[in-house]
Amino acid sequence: MKITVSVIKADIGSIAGHVRVHQDTIEVAKKKLETAKEEGLVIDYYVFNAGDDLELLITHTKGVDNPEIHELSWEIFKESAKKAKELKLYAAGQDLLKESFSGNIKGMGPGVAEIEFEERPAEPFAVFAADKTEPGAFNLPVFRIFADPFNTAGLIIDPKMHAGFKFIIMDVIEGKEIELQTPEDLYDILALIGHTGRYIIKFVYSKDPTIGVAAAVSTQRLSLIAGRYIGKDDPVCIIRAQHGLPAMGEILEAFSQAHLVKGWMRGSHHGPLMPVPLKYSQCTRFDGPPRVVGLGFNLCEGKLIGPIDLFDDPAFDLVRQKAMLITDYIRSMGPFEPHMLGPEELEYTTLPEVLKRLKNRWREST
Ligand code: F6R
Ligand code: MG
Ligand code: MG
Repeated sequence: MKITVSVIKADIGSIAGHVRVHQDTIEVAKKKLETAKEEGLVIDYYVFNAGDDLELLITHTKGVDNPEIHELSWEIFKESAKKAKELKLYAAGQDLLKESFSGNIKGMGPGVAEIEFEERPAEPFAVFAADKTEPGAFNLPVFRIFADPFNTAGLIIDPKMHAGFKFIIMDVIEGKEIELQTPEDLYDILALIGHTGRYIIKFVYSKDPTIGVAAAVSTQRLSLIAGRYIGKDDPVCIIRAQHGLPAMGEILEAFSQAHLVKGWMRGSHHGPLMPVPLKYSQCTRFDGPPRVVGLGFNLCEGKLIGPIDLFDDPAFDLVRQKAMLITDYIRSMGPFEPHMLGPEELEYTTLPEVLKRLKNRWREST
């Protein structure tokens, strides 16, 4: 049975600043998805939050980029934003950039990650959603999961994974994408994806056509505005696990570094990506640090069995502590690079205005 897993997300407003989605707006989304389930449009759903982003996980049989599913999500975000406005929540309706729906939610503000595949006899997968960062934040963990044998033992010792994987990498600036393969293109892949603001892993495919797509990251909004730098979108990522794909533990292992990402405070700072359970899916200190939640499911004829709150585990306590040590350290740099991003990547800046004002105060340096 071919199933589509769609994760569609938007910041429709949050409580106490850009901190956390309000429960009442989550309830609005659940109610509308329950109706869609009763009507048979969707098979199943799960609604959750990543900090101030409302996340809709939807399973169905309509394929990716389906207008009905996208319109449903758009209507849900509009309805939740209406609730957010009623409650006078912060930045209500922030990510809803267009007035009316025109066939595809991409380019309208929300982020989308979708995959369609033949459901295996047992189909475990994980959904990751991050706040105060950008799609390139997933480059490092996704690379480690599918291409680094120091993370994923299966690449060496599982005959079904030994052939490697195919990566679709997007160039955000040019609006182009390229397919590269591991292990043969390993160094070329790394030459690109280390530059997380420009080259983004968008999909990973198994080389075994019976498995097909293995992972997807939400890059779509970026792609539509290619040609100029368009800033950061809090990203989502879907990764299938086991039996020819990385084990769930290999997937989670890649989040054990608290690696530095872009997008913290005003979209303008580097900070460590901290894996947290849903109860800590709220951004507090200096609007962060950037956080990622991970939910594990199994599919049963498209029905969602789960979730398991994957980072709700002492196994991630030390990573969280490490993230806070890095936070203390990097915060001490205040407005200095590399804590603050370079001028071309700042989402907020006064630099042009300051330079204009100081124009006549420069003199030749001796
Ligand atoms: C939003 C975010 C926050 C805001 C910051 C300033 O997701 O990353 O760090 O950029 O709180 O927000 P405004 O300009 O709305 O006061
Ligand atoms: Mg916000
Ligand atoms: Mg956010």
